[in-house]
Amino acid sequence: MIELCLVGIGSGDPDHLTSEAIRALNGADLILIPTKGEEKADLADLRREVVARLVTGKPKVAEFGLPSRDEATPGYLDRVNDWHDAIASLWGEAIDTHLPDGGRVALMIWGDPSLYDSSLRIADRLRQAGREVAVRVIPGITSLQLLTARHAIPLNTLGGPVQITTGRQLRDHGWPEGVATLAVMLDGGCAFTTLPPDGVTIWWGAYLGMAQEMLASGPLAEAGPHIVATRAAARADHGWIMDIYLLRRDDPPADR
Ligand SMILES: C[S@@+](CC[C@H](N)C(=O)[O-])C[C@H]1O[C@@H](n2cnc3c(N)ncnc32)[C@H](O)[C@@H]1O
Repeated sequence: MIELCLVGIGSGDPDHLTSEAIRALNGADLILIPTKGEEKADLADLRREVVARLVTGKPKVAEFGLPSRDEATPGYLDRVNDWHDAIASLWGEAIDTHLPDGGRVALMIWGDPSLYDSSLRIADRLRQAGREVAVRVIPGITSLQLLTARHAIPLNTLGGPVQITTGRQLRDHGWPEGVATLAVMLDGGCAFTTLPPDGVTIWWGAYLGMAQEMLASGPLAEAGPHIVATRAAARADHGWIMDIYLLRRDDPPADR
């Protein structure tokens, strides 16, 4: 029997791990650290730093290489599903190798496992493959919480709805009906540039919780071009970027 503990580690700063997360890591028999694939080297380094600073003694720590997504497979969802199958197999192999008699396995999940993260779906695949796996989730601070905290803003307007979406959705479908506030993640290309900017405010953050952290905010018409330029320069400097933003209509349709 395997207990698989998905431990939310926050979005960049080891100080953001909760006491519960630290206890769960220290109570594990095995901590698995993914090292390659779509994960940036800096993100694996953060996990190593968490182990070095917060894990004492007992758990065995093993690194395993993640596959990259096969961009040749047609269809975004098919590509992602194939990729998740491959990751589930690697989790299974790593568990068999390092914990052949079963026990507690912990995986450090960026932010929180509930938000744009597929670990829970991958864990389901292990069960579907016939393994006895009990899944436990330890919540972590999400990048969205860090964004609102850094800008000291509420997530929602008074009684207003919020939609969390991706850059791809915003680019393909525009601003959804009846929503005052949009939180946009996984945006590789500044999808906010496709919106009419009048009456929209943006709060943006990149590398939140990390040494390179950057923030910008203001009316979309003015802040938008500044963010596009800052983002391109930061990406060129560091070789990668992770950013998130909140967009709010000054006169939300829901409140009219
Ligand atoms: C695969 S999702 C993982 C989200 C994560 N589970 C969470 O709870 O925040 C990755 C996206 O989260 C956002 N993100 C994660 N960490 C971030 C950070 N430190 N700074 C800015 N955005 C971040 C970006 O939009 C990125 O494209």
